[in-house]
Amino acid sequence: MKPEDLKKRILSRQLTPDLEGQEAIVCGWVSHTRDLGGIRFIVIRDKYGEIQVTLPKGKVNEELFNLADKLGMEWVVAVKGVVKNEKRAPQGAEIIPEEIEILNRAISQLPLDPTGRISADLDTRLNARIMDLRRPQTQAIFKINHHLLRFIREYLIKEDFIEINTPKIIATATEGGTELFPLAYFEKEAFLAQSPQLYKEQLSSVFERVFEIAPIWRAEMHNTTRHLNELIMVDIEMAYGNMYDVMEVLENMIKYAFEGTSRECQKELKILNQKIEVPKTPFPRYTYDEVLKMLENKMEISWGEDIGTEACKILGELLNGFYFIIEWPSTSKPFYIKIKEDDPRVSESFDLNFDWLEICSGGTRVHDKEKLISRLSEQGLNPSSFKFHLQTFDYGMPPHAGFGLGLARLLMIITGMSNIRECVLFPRDRTRLTP
Ligand code: 4AD
Ligand code: MG
Repeated sequence: MKPEDLKKRILSRQLTPDLEGQEAIVCGWVSHTRDLGGIRFIVIRDKYGEIQVTLPKGKVNEELFNLADKLGMEWVVAVKGVVKNEKRAPQGAEIIPEEIEILNRAISQLPLDPTGRISADLDTRLNARIMDLRRPQTQAIFKINHHLLRFIREYLIKEDFIEINTPKIIATATEGGTELFPLAYFEKEAFLAQSPQLYKEQLSSVFERVFEIAPIWRAEMHNTTRHLNELIMVDIEMAYGNMYDVMEVLENMIKYAFEGTSRECQKELKILNQKIEVPKTPFPRYTYDEVLKMLENKMEISWGEDIGTEACKILGELLNGFYFIIEWPSTSKPFYIKIKEDDPRVSESFDLNFDWLEICSGGTRVHDKEKLISRLSEQGLNPSSFKFHLQTFDYGMPPHAGFGLGLARLLMIITGMSNIRECVLFPRDRTRLTP
């Protein structure tokens, strides 16, 4: 076959009975071969599914017939042949080959069984992630991720948000001093961004509605099934809005993305044995005080404390699906969150949870420069380190609000995965830096 021939290839999902009698070229990885004596099968796999190549003895030339026996798993082949209807084949059609070209070989001792029939633990799978991604189940997760992202973007663009890209090498902290990865930046010290927080706020004073979908880094010591050190965050910021406006964008965005993903990913969801339940809006809202009351007698939390993992697990038994926890204690939220005017104990902030898992945090921001400076000082941060951020508040800063959502956690919910590492192509955790 000539290189141009490969471009003429059809994909597995295009190999249908209406092509009966026509010549076709297909490419893929050898999934397995079967030898029934008088007939041999080569099953190859491409990104959409499987293709059956059938070699009846005497009907295909002998050299080809013998080749079928020599192919190894995951070898890459191109097959030219004639399409024939066959009810038992995937898509109802098979190929009787005239030519088989080996484009590349794979080693015989593969680290994983790509059909997934022999199971392997997550660490072994992650060590050979590219092999692991050949499994339909793993692939399904990332095809769903693709559509989830696509519908999130589509919704925000529809709502007049503009996509921005902010620096990922930064000079100062945004979420408080901890959890920052330091970086040697020539003669200076720099950090990996832990959030686009300050830049998105500044840009809301220009574009009014902005969003960013980008990686951020957190030097989290936790090595849990829901924490990673590198993650994709979906951030929005909008001018002339408060926390309630942002919560509305968030719940409608999730609803829209769940509807779209459910529509587009029927096949992938079936592979994972999942059904997407499109949530009803508005999502229930509980204040921090109400949540503490719900947990009374079950868990001792003194007012002002965070609602930790243990408490969230108990809460997840009482509340199902998506729900907001609003008005967190002022001391528990970052400096940029606005304090409630008529009740300074609490802030104009929210978390969005699903069952027991936190998916998103957000709130109304402080847009008054003097108030922002006192919030920084109260939280033990040095306002002079925020000079460049603070000066943008001199140029006419509108009231604004926003949120940050952990994409992998949302994907965990849709795909039913219990470990966040399943939902990131190449996860970075406390011990994993490769592949
Ligand atoms: O709650 P966080 O820290 O909020 C912010 O970053 C704010 N700047 C958001 C805002 O606009 N006010 O992070 C937001 C979300 C969390 O709810 C969680 O889903 C995810 O990001 N997240 C993590 N996911 C996995 N591993 C980690 N280490 C995470 N840290 C945060
Ligand atoms: Mg949070």
